[in-house]
Amino acid sequence: MISITNLEKTYGDRTLFADVSAQLNAGQRYGLVGANGSGKTTLLNILTGNLDASAGKVSLPRRLRLGVLRQDQFLYEDQKILHVALMGHQELWQVMVDKEKLLANAENHFDADRFSELEDLVQRYDGYSAEAGAAMILEGLGLPAEIHYEPLSTLSGGFKLRVLLAQVLAGDPDALLLDEPTNHLDILSIRWLETFLRDFVGPVVVISHDHRFLDNVCTDILDVDYQTVTEYSGNYTEFMLAKQRERDRREKEIAKREMEIAHHQKFVDRFRAKASKARQAQSKVRMIEKKADELVELPASSRRYSTFKFAQKRDSGREVLKLKGITKAFDDNEVLHGVDLVLQRGDRMAIMGPNGIGKSTLLKIIMGDLAADEGEVEWGYETHPGYFAQDHKEQFERPHRTAEAWIWDTCPEQSIGFVRGHMAMMLFSGDDVEKRLESLSGGEAARLVFSKLAIARPNVLVLDEPTNHLDLESIEALVEGLKSFPGTLIIVSHD
Ligand SMILES: Nc1ncnc2c1ncn2[C@@H]1O[C@H](COP(=O)(O)OP(=O)(O)OP(=O)(O)O)[C@@H](O)[C@H]1O
Ligand SMILES: [Mg+2]
Repeated sequence: MISITNLEKTYGDRTLFADVSAQLNAGQRYGLVGANGSGKTTLLNILTGNLDASAGKVSLPRRLRLGVLRQDQFLYEDQKILHVALMGHQELWQVMVDKEKLLANAENHFDADRFSELEDLVQRYDGYSAEAGAAMILEGLGLPAEIHYEPLSTLSGGFKLRVLLAQVLAGDPDALLLDEPTNHLDILSIRWLETFLRDFVGPVVVISHDHRFLDNVCTDILDVDYQTVTEYSGNYTEFMLAKQRERDRREKEIAKREMEIAHHQKFVDRFRAKASKARQAQSKVRMIEKKADELVELPASSRRYSTFKFAQKRDSGREVLKLKGITKAFDDNEVLHGVDLVLQRGDRMAIMGPNGIGKSTLLKIIMGDLAADEGEVEWGYETHPGYFAQDHKEQFERPHRTAEAWIWDTCPEQSIGFVRGHMAMMLFSGDDVEKRLESLSGGEAARLVFSKLAIARPNVLVLDEPTNHLDLESIEALVEGLKSFPGTLIIVSHD
């Protein structure tokens, strides 16, 4: 249905992937996996036609409707929820927007011909039932009719994502391309999505770092690694076994060749000096050269471990944080009612619960980014909190700047060596430090924000879903970093 031929993408002298060929068929669900920054989102953008490949091509049936969920999520903040869903049907949405404009300007000038033309188009696209259909999908996703005309910005991260999913589904797609759909979703919504995808008839390509989700959904895995994309059939667990076996086999093969070469080399060294055997040594040299040529070097895997290291400048006082009767409502929806809490130095608190229950709201209130309706937040003596927000990309105000400049701004008194050292721990090495903020992948952006956090050396870490976007290696490294952090920890996570 979708075919990919000899696809290649490079940035400067860096090859993300080359020689990629694959055929994506209906009824198959492909998990697109790989390390942070390996090129998953890039591949998806090439499939959707939003980005040009460096070589090769992608062919799609001409009338194929693609349903695309992007990793960059919160773009429609001021739009009404139902409208965001309707935008999934692009042609219809454009007509509706044009009609709205024409009506808004009707007092000065009313173009009756154009109006009836637009009306015809609405009919043709079955506009009125599309609206009802979008509303139904929203309800199915747990968004009741009463809120369909509220702006998207009134929703929690998990619910925003459901609206974007509704947008994808409302467009009645023939194929689905989803970039990390489970970030921000609670367990129940993830289970809902799994069932939905299993019932979908067209091909599905889904990027995720969530193994359980991939195991439950995928029939095939596309692995972005070793500067190419390799297809494996089966779910994630099967893929991991197969990949390890394949690598072991190739490494053994190479080890065997290397031993042979070493053996012949010894002979050459020993007899080169002796004239009588010189001719024999010559032929060995040629043989060694030939073998060495055959010895394909394995390209390095893009899976790498970062180092999360959180040191605190100094201890905080014994009592770290006290919440007294925190209450918060959005209009008539009271999300927090009388939260009381005392945290002592060294406590490690996890905040859990379904989407929309008020976890991020509580953290924002704690951090002073949002005012409570009632109640008090009291930070203890010598507390220095460091905050990792759910929408952490909002900190990248000037997206043209480089990652290094952004970090250096937070500690201008430090040397460049200090800045680069910290960035290297988060796997920004060499030219990576010069990357612009806007071109960072989801996981790279998260790692950069963690660099900044580590440099500030806080004694209280306040983390809102820190594992979203991170690949498995980074999550493990984060866990290690948090285990050895001596301070106090407040963490929201679905993991
Ligand atoms: N315009 C650009 N110039 C240079 N490098 C770029 C540009 N755009 C993206 N990149 C780099 O290409 C690599 C692949 O990015 P991509 O977003 O595809 O990664 P990803 O596999 O989706 O990672 P993640 O799991 O973190 O989302 C990253 O290292 C990114 O920094
Ligand atoms: Mg990505």
